[in-house]
Amino acid sequence: MSPVLDPVPAANLPLAALAPGKCILFGEHSVVHGGPELVAAIDLYVQVGARAPGSTGATTAVAPNPYLRRATERFWSGRPPLDLTITSRVPRSAGLGSSAALCAATVALMGAATGGLSRPELARRAFEVERGAQGVGSPGDTSSVVAGGLVALNAEVGEELWSVSDGGREWSVRRVADPGWTWVVGYTRVPRSTADAVRAVATRLGRPDGPDLLRELRRVALEGIRAVGQEDRTGVGRWLGENHALLREIGVSHPRLEALIEAVRPSAVGAKLTGAGAGGSMLALPQTGKEVETARRIASAGGVPYVVRVEPRGAHLVGSLATAGSLPGDDPDDGAVG
Ligand code: PMV
Repeated sequence: MSPVLDPVPAANLPLAALAPGKCILFGEHSVVHGGPELVAAIDLYVQVGARAPGSTGATTAVAPNPYLRRATERFWSGRPPLDLTITSRVPRSAGLGSSAALCAATVALMGAATGGLSRPELARRAFEVERGAQGVGSPGDTSSVVAGGLVALNAEVGEELWSVSDGGREWSVRRVADPGWTWVVGYTRVPRSTADAVRAVATRLGRPDGPDLLRELRRVALEGIRAVGQEDRTGVGRWLGENHALLREIGVSHPRLEALIEAVRPSAVGAKLTGAGAGGSMLALPQTGKEVETARRIASAGGVPYVVRVEPRGAHLVGSLATAGSLPGDDPDDGAVG
């Protein structure tokens, strides 16, 4: 097993865990119905710190956050209360994995404080918490932020890392080599609910042309995964565009997404919405050397740009809270472009 897939070791409080955000390159929505998907962990992070209560004046209430409540019920039940501190560079409800990263980091540190856990088990627990809180969805996001790098779901490529089941459907998660490209993400500033979008798509796919659309979504995602494997930038750009057209067809685009995708056309090889859509974010593969231009185009069109690279490391402990005050990327020259 590769070193980035090391287990989470046993450790004592106080503890902090870091998890990357993610963006979906191909196959969102159809993955919920068993289709292939390609997801990249990205270098924007969520950090969760945990200590015994009373050790500082600062506390965070757990109850109002559905993910933290679920994680506590499932993996901290019967134990003394925890003070949790969350620091995030991932915008919320933006399709960039903030909830998956929060689930993975929280479950990682609860697992560490109760004897440690394997990485497949961390992936399963993080999904259980996210799915329990959201009610719908696939393990694509949580497996991505637990594995780091690029992962493919339900595609016969690369080494199998683990599989995750919701009791009905089972998803296989495999490693895909990262070609090392820089990507540009644009947040529309329109927050939305993943669960609402997933339910709307399920209704849309129930119409007579639903099976054909699902077949096309699967085919395009597989072509996209193949093009990434071949490091074929032109091919990837084409399949990004085709995937977006299908996502528009199933009703999850948004005028702000269309505006940002249109804005990057002169400097990008391809672009699409990423995540659940209906607002949220878009993803562009910039032409080589045009990363900053692409980010500027997004900003000029009213979006929030992030120049991102694939983060090879999944959720992991980051030592004691005393040393964990800042996140990778806090350097203003690193990551976000305003
Ligand atoms: O939460 P988001 O915006 O990253 O969407 C996740 C991708 C979906 O396929 C729409 C849902 C899922 O759980 O796979």
